[in-house]
Amino acid sequence: MAALCLLLLLSLAEAIDLRVPELPVIGLLDKDVILPCWFTPSEGFTPKNLSVFWKLPNQQQDYGFVLGEDLQENQSPQYKDRISLFHEELSKGNMSVLLQQVRLTDEGIYTCFVNVQNSSSASVSLQVGAPFTKPTLHLEPSEALKPGDQVTVTCHTYDGYPEANILWQNGEGQNMTENITTSQVANEKGLFHVQSSLSVILETSDTYTCLVFNPVLQDVTHASLTVTGQHLSFPPLVLWVTVGLSICLLCLLVALACVCRKHLKQTCEEEQENAGNEEHEENGELKTAMQPLKVTSPGEDDDAECLE
Ligand SMILES: *[C@@H]1O[C@H](CO)[C@@H](O)[C@H](O)[C@H]1NC(C)=O
Ligand SMILES: *[C@@H]1O[C@H](CO)[C@@H](O)[C@H](O)[C@H]1NC(C)=O
Ligand SMILES: *[C@@H]1O[C@H](CO)[C@@H](O)[C@H](O)[C@H]1NC(C)=O
Ligand SMILES: *[C@@H]1O[C@H](CO)[C@@H](O)[C@H](O)[C@H]1NC(C)=O
Ligand SMILES: *[C@@H]1O[C@H](CO)[C@@H](O)[C@H](O)[C@H]1NC(C)=O
Repeated sequence: MAALCLLLLLSLAEAIDLRVPELPVIGLLDKDVILPCWFTPSEGFTPKNLSVFWKLPNQQQDYGFVLGEDLQENQSPQYKDRISLFHEELSKGNMSVLLQQVRLTDEGIYTCFVNVQNSSSASVSLQVGAPFTKPTLHLEPSEALKPGDQVTVTCHTYDGYPEANILWQNGEGQNMTENITTSQVANEKGLFHVQSSLSVILETSDTYTCLVFNPVLQDVTHASLTVTGQHLSFPPLVLWVTVGLSICLLCLLVALACVCRKHLKQTCEEEQENAGNEEHEENGELKTAMQPLKVTSPGEDDDAECLE
């Protein structure tokens, strides 16, 4: 801290033209991020002439580099072994730091203090973002829907940061604004679970899309659901009765066919007997008379035998 105060006092002298990004730096949760800070050194500059301090958000200790060496003692526990300068870049006046495995608690203002002959400081803001999961949609109620029914479509998405902006759209891509309730709850890690419900009066068929927008990461994830309400309701009972009746009818037809065939066979045998007793001329007559039967039940040995 003493070194920092000295730098602050020195900074009253003519400032070094220190550069930092104007917009906040976006860090992805659990990933590494670079916080940039640099100046264009004058000729003859070596890192041996350089002192750098990074003031970290909500920390008593700073991360520093004094006259060619990292300041190791009193490193704040939250950043210990996670923050480092690019030593090979220092000679170019590049004092950016690498912050590894970004946490939600890393969010805040990072100030880069530098002293060569003169001093200067500039601040970088770090915003942390975590992408939301692809949303899942649920429909309530989900069965026997008719136009005019009220249904609720619920959208769930998890583990994002910071809070999401939720947007609902219909099949035509129009924003829906009425009858939406959204809640966002942070879990123990600080990541949000978002639940948004849309209440609608069902029409014949419509598609509902839940869009989850992460304002820091500037990305959108979405899911759609198409809901159909049928005018001609066809209850399952009616369906089964129809199927049942159809099967009965089929059985009846088969039974009828069997009876008929048996009857015909009997007649056939009788006639054959008769034919055996009587003249051979009759046989020829019978043959032609039985011809249509052969067409309706072809390839059956009984009939063939019967006819011969
Ligand atoms: C420090 O300030 C002097 C003038 O006071 C200037 O000539 C010099 O370039 C500055 N040094 C750096 C590193 O900016
Ligand atoms: C760097 O420091 C050395 C002494 O440690 C000094 O002689 C030299 O002029 C300094 N160079 C600059 C560019 O400040
Ligand atoms: C500073 O160094 C880092 C790490 O190598 C690099 O990503 C960045 O572009 C450098 N910045 C400048 C201004 O050279
Ligand atoms: C829907 O709303 C969003 C945010 O409020 C807006 O950016 C977008 O232009 C709107 N889209 C339509 C089609 O109205
Ligand atoms: C939606 O809200 C309007 C008033 O804001 C209400 O008249 C309508 O019944 C609601 N619809 C549903 C499906 O809840």
